[in-house]
This record gives sequence, structure tokens and C-alpha cells, in this order.
Amino acid sequence: MPKPYTIAFANQKGGVGKTTSCVNVASCAAEKGLRVLLVDSDPQGNSTSGVGVGKRSIEKTTYDVLIDGADPADCVVKTGFKNLSLLPSTLGLAGAEFELFDAEKRERRMRTFLEKCGDEYDLAVIDCPPSLSLLTVNALTAADSVVIPMQCEYYALEGLIQLMLSIRKVRELYNPDLTVLGILVTMYNGRLTLTGAVLDEIKKHYGDKLFKTAVPRAVRLTEAPSFGKPINYHDRYSKACDAYMQATDEILERIGIVPKA
Ligand SMILES: Nc1ncnc2c1ncn2[C@@H]1O[C@H](COP(=O)(O)OP(=O)(O)O)[C@@H](O)[C@H]1O
Ligand SMILES: [Mg+2]
Repeated sequence: MPKPYTIAFANQKGGVGKTTSCVNVASCAAEKGLRVLLVDSDPQGNSTSGVGVGKRSIEKTTYDVLIDGADPADCVVKTGFKNLSLLPSTLGLAGAEFELFDAEKRERRMRTFLEKCGDEYDLAVIDCPPSLSLLTVNALTAADSVVIPMQCEYYALEGLIQLMLSIRKVRELYNPDLTVLGILVTMYNGRLTLTGAVLDEIKKHYGDKLFKTAVPRAVRLTEAPSFGKPINYHDRYSKACDAYMQATDEILERIGIVPKA
């Protein structure tokens, strides 16, 4: 079945920049002319509010996709931003894991949904929760590749090794074609000695996977969600926006998509 090229933004650690990266890469790719579907697969719903979709305007969500096999037409909403659509999430998604406990093909629900989207989008990006739960497994089973947002801190590498093992497991069990597209360094502060040391370690083990672009620590990125805007609408001429535009170029280059715009 044709489905949009799908990237899962995953890392079982919380607060590493998954949502920020997912929302902004989605919006930058959309600005570059791709038709993009942002899938919020975290019960926190941060990417939903991050693109300005309010709880009151939401009908069906990722929960309905996973539990009831809801159709794209019934749950995808248009955002206020060019080329950018959203499959929203609310706190209700937290119950999905338990409800799917002994369901059949429970890890394939997201993939089936994306297959129903056919060729309506050029790219789908999935914002994963901070766990290796069934929600993340659904995302990894649906994805063509994974982008791993990472903060250069002391335990980063340990987490990374664990995530790589989980990705290998999903590849063996459910999705043989899954690849790691790359590791994206977020909240980068070159003045910190520890950052440099951790970065050297990552380069040593996963050098070929590291994106050249590192996203700097920037207040603009923290405040943008409170306006319900991605960075390219919040502050188009900031360093943070440049970084996400460049990271998006690298991502699209690695998957071989050339924007038409
Ligand atoms: N480059 C950055 N500079 C400054 N703050 C950032 C940056 N990236 C993310 N943040 C902030 O860090 C926090 C965690 O980021 P988030 O994207 O929500 O991580 P995750 O989805 O992995 O939990 C949020 O408050 C977010 O605004
Ligand atoms: Mg998040």
C-alpha cells in the first residue's frame, strides 16, 4: 500500500527535544512545499497545542486511530499553517496502551492508518512519547526511519544504546525495513565542556548518523509553543529557525525527497 514517507521522532527520555524537533521539522518541510502530516502520538498533546490546535476543536484523535481504526478523513485536521495537517492527541491516549493489551495486531494500528492516507501527504512525522511503550512501537512499526533527538548530557549515550536495541527489536519483529535516519543534537551549547565530551563519544560510536546541524539552545523555541506556532512562523529570522530549516534540508536529503517549491 502507498503511504507517506514516515519518520518517527523517538527517544525514551523525556525533555530531549522530540516534540520541538518534530513540530518544527514538520513545519519547515511544509514551508518548503511538502504536504506534511504531523502525528501526535504523545498523550501530553504538546505537538497538538504546538501547532495551535485547541482541545475544543478536536473530535477524533490518535486514540481513535489506535483503538477503533478511525479513518483519516474523520480525525486529521488542517492547521493554520501552509501544507501542514495534524492527527491530534489528548490525554485520553494514555489509556490506549492498556486497552490494546491483548488486541490483535496491536502494533500495526498506526501503519494501517498511514496506509489509508495513501498519497495525500509527501511526509508524515510522528511525535513519540518518552517511553518504549506500545505507542512508540506503533510509531516505529509505521515508520520508514527514525530521527533521534538528543541532548548532549551525561546519560545520553546510555539511553541511545537502549533505544538502538529497541529499534533492532522492532526491525526483527514488525518492520524489517526500519532504519535510523540520524541523531539530531538539540539544546546545543558549545560553551559547555560536558557537551563537547558527550558529542565526541557519540561521534565515536555513531558518527555517520549524526546530523551536521545542531539545534542551539534558544528561548525562541521555548516560547513558540505558547503562541501555538512553529518557529518559522514565530521568528522566521532567528538562529533557531535557521537551524531547523537546515536540519530539515539534511533530513530530506537523506531520504531523497526534493522539495518542488
Ligand atoms: N533548542 C532548544 N532551546 C531551548 N529550549 C528547548 C529547545 N528544544 C526544546 N526546548 C524546550 O525543552 C523542553 C523539552 O522539549 P520537548 O521538545 O518538549 O522535549 P520532549 O518532547 O523530548 O519531551 C520544552 O520546554 C522545550 O520548549
Ligand atoms: Mg514531547
